[in-house]
Amino acid sequence: MENLKVLIDEKTLQEKILEIGKTIEKDYEGKEIVLISILRGSVFFTVDLAKRISNPMRFEFIEVSSYEGGTESSGKVKLNKDLAGSIKGKDVIVIEDIIDTGRTLSYLLEHLKSKEPNSIKLCTLLNKPSRRVIDVKVDYEGFEIEDKFVVGYGLDIDQYYRNLPFIGYIEE
Ligand code: IMP
Ligand code: MG
Repeated sequence: MENLKVLIDEKTLQEKILEIGKTIEKDYEGKEIVLISILRGSVFFTVDLAKRISNPMRFEFIEVSSYEGGTESSGKVKLNKDLAGSIKGKDVIVIEDIIDTGRTLSYLLEHLKSKEPNSIKLCTLLNKPSRRVIDVKVDYEGFEIEDKFVVGYGLDIDQYYRNLPFIGYIEE
């Protein structure tokens, strides 16, 4: 892509992920964790973060869609794929790539709470607080970014660019 610029390089990403991992390890000392990765964007972050946490851990995946294509939000959240296993009584951390309007997470957290976990926390790699429509409480955060549409490291435009090892944006 011609006008692709780097916003957060690979080294900076990985250093931050190590830092978040160590914080989670401390907060959950002696506990088993269930990481819930939101398909598909947060898979890259989930995998790298999980490798920095030594606690006993299980993985669950859930798929929702909010952006119907391109960079425009439809405003609606749809559950495409629910969890495969039970999280009842478990200590759960939801892993997200980016929080934008907050619609996806507020919907998802309510859905997951109804499954009666012992605790539920939210960890996001990126946060765009200036775009928030619905308030969500973020427990672990990588980077606060300005209102730019970003790609790479899991984030897509129409399913492309997820495989970039850094976070980039398109300069207009
Ligand atoms: P929200 O429901 O508006 O908070 O949107 C969250 C979802 O929108 C994320 O899980 C992403 O899939 C997508 N999204 C929001 N901002 C961006 C972006 O800058 N680049 C790529 N995807 C984004
Ligand atoms: Mg997405």
